This record gives sequence, C-alpha cells and structure tokens, in this order.
Amino acid sequence: MTLTAATVDTLRVDLGGRSYDIHIGPGLIANADQWLSDCLGVGAAFIITDDNVAGHYLAPIEAALDRLGQRHHAIVLPAGEATKSFETWRDVSEQLLALGAERGSTIIALGGGVIGDLAGFIAATLLRGVDFVQIPTTLLAQVDSSVGGKTAINSAHGKNLIGAFFQPKRVLIDIAVLDSLPRRELLAGYAETVKYGLIGDAAFFDWLERNGSDVIAGDQGARRYAITTSCAAKAATVRADEREHGQRALLNFGHTFAHALEAEAGYDSGLLHGEAVAVGMIMALALSRDAGLCNGQDVARVRRHFAAVGLPVTLADLPVAADWDPQRLYGHMQNDKKVAAGKINFIAATAIGAAVISNQFQSEQVLQVLSEH
Ligand code: NAD
Ligand code: GLY
Repeated sequence: MTLTAATVDTLRVDLGGRSYDIHIGPGLIANADQWLSDCLGVGAAFIITDDNVAGHYLAPIEAALDRLGQRHHAIVLPAGEATKSFETWRDVSEQLLALGAERGSTIIALGGGVIGDLAGFIAATLLRGVDFVQIPTTLLAQVDSSVGGKTAINSAHGKNLIGAFFQPKRVLIDIAVLDSLPRRELLAGYAETVKYGLIGDAAFFDWLERNGSDVIAGDQGARRYAITTSCAAKAATVRADEREHGQRALLNFGHTFAHALEAEAGYDSGLLHGEAVAVGMIMALALSRDAGLCNGQDVARVRRHFAAVGLPVTLADLPVAADWDPQRLYGHMQNDKKVAAGKINFIAATAIGAAVISNQFQSEQVLQVLSEH
C-alpha cells in the first residue's frame, strides 16, 4: 500500500540545517520503508523500544527495514519512567558500541515519551551525535515529546535534569497505534492536546469541546486533526524559540503545579504526567482568575470539558493516595528548575487561547489555589 497526502499530513519543523518533516496518518509503521528510505544512514539502524510496545510494533518496523535492505538491531527495555536513567543510558550506549554503532548509524525511538527522551539523549551523546528518528506510540509523545528536540534522562535531583536539545531527522506518527494504548494513557495525552488550545488557539479549544470525545473514542479523522493541529502549534513554537529563551516556555502551562504534584506523589507512584498537567492547568487558570487576568467563566468552561471527557480537575480526582499539603506542594515549586532569581515562573492565562509568562504571583495566591483544589 502506498500512503499519500490524502491520508497523511506532512508538517515541516523549520530549523535551517536541522529542519525535519513530521508525517501523520494511519499505517505509517507498517509502511515505514516508504517514510524512512531517504533518512537512514549507511550504518546499521538501532531500534530502541520498550517491552509493551515491542510486542505490538517491533516486527512491522523490522520488516520495513528488511524491505529496504537496511541492517538493524533492536534493544528492548523495560517499560516505565525508571528506564530514563543514567544506568540505562550507559548500558544501552555500551551495547550500541558493541554492536558496531558508527557515525552513519541511525537510532529509531519506537515508543512513548520515556523511550523518545532516552533514545534521543543516547543519540545526542553517542559518538558526539548520531541521527535519530522518532516513532511516537503514545498520544502524549505524538502531540508533544517527539517534536522539538528536548531529550533527557532523570537525576536523583529530579526529572529531565540531564539532557540536550537534539532534533530528530524525522517524526513518523502512526495514529492507528493509539488503538492499543490504555485509555488512561490516552487521556493523559489528551490533556497535553488541550494545552495547545488553551495557550494559543481558542478555535482549537472550541473544536475539542465538540469533538474531544470522538478523539478519545477512536475516530481516526478526529484523531488526525487533533494531532496535526497540536504538532503544527508545537512546530511553530519550536521554530520561533528552539532553546526556550522565551515563548517555548508557554508549553509549560500547568506544569509548575504538575511538577509539584509529581514530586509530592513520587515518580514511581503511578501518577501520569498528563494527569498532573490536567489538574495543573486548572490550577493555573484559577490562579489567573484570582489575579484578575482571566474571567471565571473561562475557568468553569475548561473544568466542564475536562470533567466531560474524564480528565481530573481536582486533587481528589487523581488516582494516587497523597496528602497534598499546600505548603509542601509550594515547597516543591520553589525547587523547580523554572525558578529564576528566587521567583517562581508561572504560565498564566488571560483568556482561553492566550497565555503569558509571569513571576508576579504572591505566595498567598498560590497557596489559596492549592488549598481550594
Ligand atoms: P511512556 O513512554 O511511559 O508510555 C506510557 C505507557 O504506554 C508505557 O507503559 C508504554 O509501554 C505504553 N505504550 C506506549 N505506546 C503504546 C501503544 N501504542 N500501545 C500500548 N501501550 C503503549 O509515557 P509517555 O506518557 O508517552 O511519556 C512520558 C515521558 O515523556 C516522561 O518521561 C516525560 O518527562 C516525557 N516528556 C517529554 C517531553 C519532551 O518535550 N521531550 C514532553 C512531555 C513529556
Ligand atoms: N514539552 C515542552 C517543550 O517541548 O518545550
């Protein structure tokens, strides 16, 4: 089967010599030879994946590489956040060297954000940089982490503290793989999808209000539109501010609260990043409302949409047991890597579809929001 523009959307992330295409559509993994033939180097390809994803999608990628006559090896890692570690980075790098990795090799990241971030960081550091391709298989990775070149592993001091900006050579988004994704993971990725509407595209939020349940239920057309719109927003942001000196920070809407929730729950608590981001975005909206930046109707509208699709809106909705003490949560915020000169940077909303960076909130206002949620 040859896939065409009728079924596949192509976006360009325009970064001069580091530009790349994102292809979005159903069936791209089974037809990966069509989409990767021009971006594989002369060396072997190394597929890095996890043990959930491998069972579903490794064989079709291997078959596609065989059709291209491309030498390849697979490294299958345990699924889960613990895999984004120093130890895995070292072990996989050593394995790749033992298998004969060279400058002309290509790393293929096949999986969610954990695999994408880890494989991207390995690609950034191995032999001072080898090409890599992202094949994201969670909704979160498809709308966010696979695009934009943020790669990282976790440190004992916190998540994503060791990493590099390193852009992929291509992103292949096969929307059909979402059919095997557990619903909770899908909803977590949906929260990051709504984020693009909230920070910069009121019309997209309107569309999600009307069609979000179809996106979640599995309507392929709705999924393709939601993912393409999200990736277009992300690509435009990365093009304008690749290294997060300014507007890329808007992508962190809700994340200052979310990181505090994740730190308090514990990174092995089972709380999903997107779940924390959902509650974090509601808190950021409430903080914005309390400071007179946006109106209460906007906050109520977003809460209604989250509740309608099954996203958490308060701490009590989160599926983990924690005490959620406001002072302790505020303490985590003060340790966040987004703190500058002792002031916590928040992304605030001035309306649905408009966000600004602000460090002007008083601690009492933040504590009030934490208490009332
Ligand atoms: P994940 O990679 O852990 O995947 C979630 C779960 O879904 C895993 O168990 C995985 O095995 C499974 N899975 C993946 N695809 C599947 C499929 N199609 N069918 C069935 N099961 C599937 O989690 P995630 O939410 O994709 O990513 C979270 C990570 O992404 C975090 O480490 C976070 O820090 C990072 N992140 C990075 C960026 C960035 O810009 N680089 C942005 C947001 C998040
Ligand atoms: N996920 C936030 C960013 O890529 O900047």
